[in-house]
Amino acid sequence: MQIATMRVQYPLEPFDVDSLAPTWHEQLAAWLAEADAAGVVEPNAMVLATAGDDGRPSSRTVLCKGIDERGIVLFTNYTSAKSRELRALRYASATFPWYELHRQAHVRGTVSLAHPAETEAYWRSRPRGSQLGAWASAQSTIVPDRRTLDDALEAVTRRFEGQDVPVPPHWGGWRIEPEQVEFWQGRRDRMHDRLRFELDELDRTWRVRRLAP
Ligand SMILES: Cc1cc2nc3c(=O)[nH]c(=O)nc-3n(C[C@H](O)[C@H](O)[C@H](O)COP(=O)(O)O)c2cc1C
Repeated sequence: MQIATMRVQYPLEPFDVDSLAPTWHEQLAAWLAEADAAGVVEPNAMVLATAGDDGRPSSRTVLCKGIDERGIVLFTNYTSAKSRELRALRYASATFPWYELHRQAHVRGTVSLAHPAETEAYWRSRPRGSQLGAWASAQSTIVPDRRTLDDALEAVTRRFEGQDVPVPPHWGGWRIEPEQVEFWQGRRDRMHDRLRFELDELDRTWRVRRLAP
């Protein structure tokens, strides 16, 4: 396999300002629905980038669990490496990579904790196994071996036997409130379409700009 010669032509339809939804969140929800309809695996998966105090970036995949005019929401462990960085910098970037559709959406903005009621509502929708896993795993910490994790899961399974699993105090949602949301659509000869919603800090209105590919 020659990585350098791997190449795909993108023969997709034009994507211009007049085909955008009126708001970034309606456009993002529309593309997410299209990715889902097209059979993209985990269409709500996004690569979340954070940076530490030292400015060194770090990225990992998380699932987007909410999109509305306030922002996009993800759920995670509040003591994880990513949460430490989100708390320190209060800024994040997230990219939805919909390769099968030759599309990506890129969100950048400030972060805040989701309201506990929002976390509770989502928690209730999670399978019991995932709830127990959230209790059993001190995400991002070093563990000596797999056995330690399996033992921890067994212990919390016993602890919550016969009762609802409550939301762990160390677990919940983060919301990214976008300042910019870029929609990228692949086109022929690498002349891709890039349309970016940008929030004007002064009057808090959104405008759309086209970027060179
Ligand atoms: C498809 C996919 C979805 C994931 N979704 C989540 C998620 O919603 N929340 C989460 O905390 N980790 C999720 N993970 C695991 C993260 O990528 C990461 O390993 C974990 O959150 C620890 O990251 P950190 O140590 O940088 O905090 C997912 C991984 C994959 C591959």
